[in-house]
Amino acid sequence: MTRAGEAEAYFAAGVQRLDAGDPDGAESELRRALELQPGSAETQYKLANACKELGKLAEAERHYRGTLALDPGRAEAHNNLGATLQLMERPDAAQASYGRAIALKPELPQPYLNLGRLLQQQGKNDAALACYAQALERGVEPEMFQHLFDAARGERTAQAPPAYVRATFDGLARQFDRHLVDTLDYHIPEMLSNAVRALSPPVQMDILDLGCGTGLCGEHMRDLARHLVGVDLAPNMLEMARGRACYHELVCAEIGGYLSAREGSSFDLVVAADVLIYIGDIKEVFSEVTRVLRPLGWFAFSIEQPSQTCESYRLEASGRYAQSLAYVRELAGTHGLAECSCSNVAIRKHGAQVLPGQLLVLKKC
Ligand SMILES: C[S@@+](CC[C@H](N)C(=O)[O-])C[C@H]1O[C@@H](n2cnc3c(N)ncnc32)[C@H](O)[C@@H]1O
Repeated sequence: MTRAGEAEAYFAAGVQRLDAGDPDGAESELRRALELQPGSAETQYKLANACKELGKLAEAERHYRGTLALDPGRAEAHNNLGATLQLMERPDAAQASYGRAIALKPELPQPYLNLGRLLQQQGKNDAALACYAQALERGVEPEMFQHLFDAARGERTAQAPPAYVRATFDGLARQFDRHLVDTLDYHIPEMLSNAVRALSPPVQMDILDLGCGTGLCGEHMRDLARHLVGVDLAPNMLEMARGRACYHELVCAEIGGYLSAREGSSFDLVVAADVLIYIGDIKEVFSEVTRVLRPLGWFAFSIEQPSQTCESYRLEASGRYAQSLAYVRELAGTHGLAECSCSNVAIRKHGAQVLPGQLLVLKKC
């Protein structure tokens, strides 16, 4: 095989491994490809992505800069360099990189998203609003940027648009579990599973996992299930859940649509771990969950605590919703759901902060 042919073979294997969620394997294939063909911007770019996924940030930065020396107009490399610099706590340099990515490819959503979020983190809300407004003016992912714009402006909408949720989680799916452990210290699925077990449930339940994501609840509750159904509207998250091989059914659907299409009295337990943060007005969810639960069935879920006092729910600047405990308790009362347990928990880390919230288990009377 020629040197170029060999480089191509390593490159193809590296990209395949990267796409399959194996950045470790990808890194070694791509390094070989780059040794054989040091002038390939594409190879160096993919190698930088693998290093970023592996958390090798200094190396990722070096390879993004190498890529851009070879191909200065590559907007995606500027964006990913920005994200790397942000992780390295160099916000000014990150901001400049996002700006370059936007100037080079104004139709690319990710740099507006990254820049807006960075500006919000820095408390520069007006600048973040201007960034989201620019994306909207240019017709880039209108549903997504309208939601972020509304959140940054303190508006209260009823629910995050499905396109926003899908774009957010499809993009995150491959790094989701690692991100949860490494940066977010997230343990809600395990805690919800423990809260349910504390009530001595029967084994062999029919369980519905709403917004199942990569399947962490499934993993923690599979031994309690006769039949386990996961529902999520992000196909890449469902793909990761499929890899855990613990669900009997995985359905790509919006929660409201899925619930309303189900027959009544179908489940013994409905779980929603860190999902109601994408649905502010949860009245309909409560009605439908109550309907699909069998008598004495449980609804176990988490809520994030509002950052300011509110009667029912609010859309936080983060783009997530938070419900007040009083609102949830009122809904439980009107739907005939008795409170079996309620505990204050740390939902996850958000930068240096810990986000407080509650875990509740309700029982259909
Ligand atoms: C923060 S993740 C939590 C995933 C999982 N429950 C866990 O605890 O690891 C939220 C998940 O809910 C899904 N989701 C949010 N809103 C949804 C909706 N309206 N319909 C279906 N899925 C939704 C997202 O796609 C994402 O996978």
